[in-house]
Amino acid sequence: MTPLFFLAVHRSFPCLVRTTAMPLLAFAAAIVLATPAIAADDAAQMTLGKQLFISGTAPSCAVCHTLQDAGTEGAIGPILDDLKPTAARVKKAVMEGVGVMPSFAQKLTAAQIDALALYVSRASGGSH
Ligand code: HEC
Repeated sequence: MTPLFFLAVHRSFPCLVRTTAMPLLAFAAAIVLATPAIAADDAAQMTLGKQLFISGTAPSCAVCHTLQDAGTEGAIGPILDDLKPTAARVKKAVMEGVGVMPSFAQKLTAAQIDALALYVSRASGGSH
């Protein structure tokens, strides 16, 4: 009964069927298209975070921290490969400073700090 009814509606009002199906299709397509965009966004953040870590801040993280992925060998602060901080922990340290490590809250944008936090947590093997 229902398929027959659908066929009947489709035959008599094809545009009605099309207008209800199209938004659903567009929605599904948007989800499929958005997934690689998120991955690309992540990759861009990782690249930005690495660049900031190596030489994008003053003083640079590299001067004080060892992080194998970035090829840095600073020995004033903890070795980040051993510490494996979460993104939240990196963010807190960069925003507030810890001990002799200065705060970078006035020197970096929120987006830069997020990129640094994502990069340091992932590159060191910490979760986020
Ligand atoms: C002047 C040297 C110096 C610079 C520059 C520096 N740090 Fe640090 N950092 C330290 C020291 C020292 C500690 C340990 C402080 C303590 O535990 O008393 C530390 C701690 C940390 C921690 C661990 C915090 C915690 O919760 O234990 C993280 C993560 C970190 N730094 C990331 C960074 C990042 C990212 C940058 C660049 C934006 C940076 N540091 C720049 C010296 C530095």
